[in-house]
Amino acid sequence: MPKSFITLNKLKIGYYLYSITESDFYIHNLEISIKYRGKGYFKQLIENIKQTAKTNNCQTITLQPEYQNDLSNFDTTEKLKQLYNSYGFNQINELFFRLQL
Ligand SMILES: CC(C)(COP(=O)(O)OP(=O)(O)OC[C@H]1O[C@@H](n2cnc3c(N)ncnc32)[C@H](O)[C@@H]1OP(=O)(O)O)[C@@H](O)C(=O)NCCC(=O)NCCS
Repeated sequence: MPKSFITLNKLKIGYYLYSITESDFYIHNLEISIKYRGKGYFKQLIENIKQTAKTNNCQTITLQPEYQNDLSNFDTTEKLKQLYNSYGFNQINELFFRLQL
């Protein structure tokens, strides 16, 4: 599965795993390294994802906001969903959020 990294002065501070199905860019997992969280790098992560999706001629980005995993530091799924909403992702069914490019 393809993996892309977010860098800060050449240091890898985050990554996302993705796959492409037809014109959808699906995010399997994303993470900012623990010591770099809460410093505003989410925007950079999303911009990087959008750029890679566009480069691959994708029209949508889909992900499943999931706070109940080993990596998550969010108290509730609601907060994580609000974050994705604020970046233009809309809920398409019980599980998935999608951004139209
Ligand atoms: C989710 C994640 C990528 C966000 O990255 P980040 O660099 O920490 O986010 P930022 O510092 O840019 O913050 C983005 C927003 O999220 C909010 N936020 C960040 N951590 C939060 C937390 N633990 N609880 C609630 N809100 C939080 C920030 O307040 C900020 O809100 P604002 O834009 O209104 O100011 C990062 O926390 C992470 O890697 N978490 C572990 C993996 C995970 O949960 N992945 C999600 C699976 S879908």
